[in-house]
Amino acid sequence: MIWEQFDNYDALSARAAKILLAAIRVNPRVVLGLPTGRTPIGMYNRVVDECRREYHCFRDVTTFNLDEYVGIRREHEGSYFTYMKHSLFEHIDVDASRTHIPDGNAQDLDEECHRYEREIRDAGGIDLTFLGLGGNGHIGFNEPGTPFDSRTRVVELTESTRKANASHFPDGHVPTQAITMGIATILDSRRIVLLATGSGKQDAIARLRSREITVDFPASALWTHANVHVLVA
Ligand code: GLP
Repeated sequence: MIWEQFDNYDALSARAAKILLAAIRVNPRVVLGLPTGRTPIGMYNRVVDECRREYHCFRDVTTFNLDEYVGIRREHEGSYFTYMKHSLFEHIDVDASRTHIPDGNAQDLDEECHRYEREIRDAGGIDLTFLGLGGNGHIGFNEPGTPFDSRTRVVELTESTRKANASHFPDGHVPTQAITMGIATILDSRRIVLLATGSGKQDAIARLRSREITVDFPASALWTHANVHVLVA
């Protein structure tokens, strides 16, 4: 695990954007795993800015988002579909058919999870996944206690996670479930970059640094992966 410490969030975001754009330059057909949340916003803004300054081709890039809420419309302002559209997709020339987000409104949610795993496999697996870090160590929506061999599935959200994300649901109806890639799905990615910033994350960062590997702290699974970068500010 390679750790990089930054003085501030801007510097962290610039580094993350550089890693993302470099991956596309090296392989224009790269398959990316993408996160949501507040942390990656700076990275996405940078990527969009860089693409305005200098053309970067996303046409052959494939993306898989980590997770999506269950039971809210894609057009809802709190959905990760809407988040990705506004934060990145509508600003770049990515082919919409190559962007994948679990469908939290599928009739058969379990089948949707299997389908998502199949789509990742059919794309040749994910080359580079960016992750945020939950205050309780969650990655994607894999909450404490999640087995490391878990795959894409429907999960119940903890109260602390629902509270942390409540501001995206001003009507007060915070979803109770989500579809998330599992920890094993995430660990299958050939390379992983975890972004963590802010006072609310310092305990989680310290716990990750401690190297204790336990299902009580999902991000600690990353210690079992050979190619992980942790960017901290
Ligand atoms: C959310 C997301 C995670 C994200 C995390 C941290 O619940 N499902 O993928 O990494 O919580 O979010 P933030 O960056 O807003 O702190």
